[in-house]
Amino acid sequence: MFYAFKDFEKKETLLIGLFKKSRLYGKAEEIDRLLDGQLSQLLKDGDVSSKKTKVSKIFTPSLQGVKRIYIVGLGREAEFTFEDAKQCFAEAVQQIHKDRKQELTVMLDSFVSEEVPAADAAHALAESCMLSCYEVQDYKHRANVPDQCLQSVYVLTDHDLKEIQASLHVGQVYGNATNSARTLVNMPGNMLTAADLASYAAELAAKYEFECEILEKAEMEELGMGGLLAVNQGSEEPPKMIVLKYQGKETWDDVIGLVGKGITFDTGGYSIKTKSDIVGMKSDMGGAASVLGAMEAIGELRPEQNVLAVIPSTDNMISGSAMKPDDVIVSLSGKTIEILNTDAEGRLALADGLTYAKHHGASVLIDVATLTGGVVVALGTETTGAMTNHDPLYQQVRQAAEEAGEAIWQLPITEKDKKRVKNSQMADLNNSPGREGHAIMAGTFLGEFAERTPWVHLDIAGTATTAQSSCFGPKGGTGVMVRTLVTFVERFSDQL
Ligand code: BES
Ligand code: MN
Ligand code: ZN
Repeated sequence: MFYAFKDFEKKETLLIGLFKKSRLYGKAEEIDRLLDGQLSQLLKDGDVSSKKTKVSKIFTPSLQGVKRIYIVGLGREAEFTFEDAKQCFAEAVQQIHKDRKQELTVMLDSFVSEEVPAADAAHALAESCMLSCYEVQDYKHRANVPDQCLQSVYVLTDHDLKEIQASLHVGQVYGNATNSARTLVNMPGNMLTAADLASYAAELAAKYEFECEILEKAEMEELGMGGLLAVNQGSEEPPKMIVLKYQGKETWDDVIGLVGKGITFDTGGYSIKTKSDIVGMKSDMGGAASVLGAMEAIGELRPEQNVLAVIPSTDNMISGSAMKPDDVIVSLSGKTIEILNTDAEGRLALADGLTYAKHHGASVLIDVATLTGGVVVALGTETTGAMTNHDPLYQQVRQAAEEAGEAIWQLPITEKDKKRVKNSQMADLNNSPGREGHAIMAGTFLGEFAERTPWVHLDIAGTATTAQSSCFGPKGGTGVMVRTLVTFVERFSDQL
């Protein structure tokens, strides 16, 4: 849907970026001339704003072919960043989308600054287009057919067309993969069970030629996946351990293991959640969604890396056979765990996921999970909490997050924290050492299963969903960490 062009074809709808105090130049100047200077006059009169993200629309009946021009303010050119570009495009495209325009010509070079080369502007444009036009797939009956999204975006530029087209593709893939994760997160628990998540993964695998393995309950019992099985004990739905392998190198070494929490609904189990806390727990597979979103992008972009995705999946329910507080379980690693809180279920499932990833050759591990309410208290809803046992690996993740424009912040794990998760009379570990620093406790617990393998934990409990709509789309699932994971994989260096 994105086409890079050199020559200006007059389409009905145009988009131009406007820096503060800048005169019109290039193609915009040409248009201004065709409009007998009307554009520069509007600017001079202050009818069109160059304030960052401000969108103005002008009608141009005198300009043959072009009916309307959207102008988005970009602020000061010297301060304009990649993130600003994404936001400005998102604001403008959302407006254009609302106006139900299906074709658009973008004057890409008007968005280029010192810090934002044309290729980055192209990436920002495509990514923002996909994100800002995203709509929640709901189950409402509608009288009329849903409105059509933006169909074609013509990207006018004097830069190398091949390079621009390639960047547009990358941006589009990033946006689409993030949207896929959003859709998974938004799906209700009855429509996205572990089995449904497994079929979704199998379809991805078929499309992108990943190796795919779905472990069934009997196989888990055979292997001794006591963590995932314990969480599943109260459920009517069978658990699934979902494994996807993407081999982008000659040999299966230096494998990046991506482990995603796939709890399709979290009631809390016998340590049941309150009636208000339980609402929204369909999103407890947000980590799985991020990993699957990342795998979609990896399938499209095919980087020269090896990636193993592991998703332990079940819901966390209550029944006569559900796990109980005081139970002791044996995880896949052999470590025993005393259950103090059945609502600390994610770490049980992930423990087996991490161990399984290690058994299948993962040499570094990144887990993504809606793991604790504690991280929301600590960092809010904009910043993902990170923990690690390996600083050089963490720096690579941090840089990827920065490049992708997703905020992460590291929380510490101390030796005393490690003692707290080992504090049990009955078992090697306990799954809930108490309220104090409980986001850290969850991370520390997972670290016991990563053991010596370099590992980064990303707690997305606060960031996987948003309660507010924005220029990047509606409230609900955000697809957080998809872009960070993909960027990390693309840039990964095994020289740790
Ligand atoms: N899935 C929840 C964490 C969560 C909370 C996600 C809010 C999204 C929004 C997790 O399984 C959980 O229940 N964690 C408990 C841990 C506690 C029992 C140690 C929590 O954070 O309260
Ligand atoms: Mn829980
Ligand atoms: Zn949970």
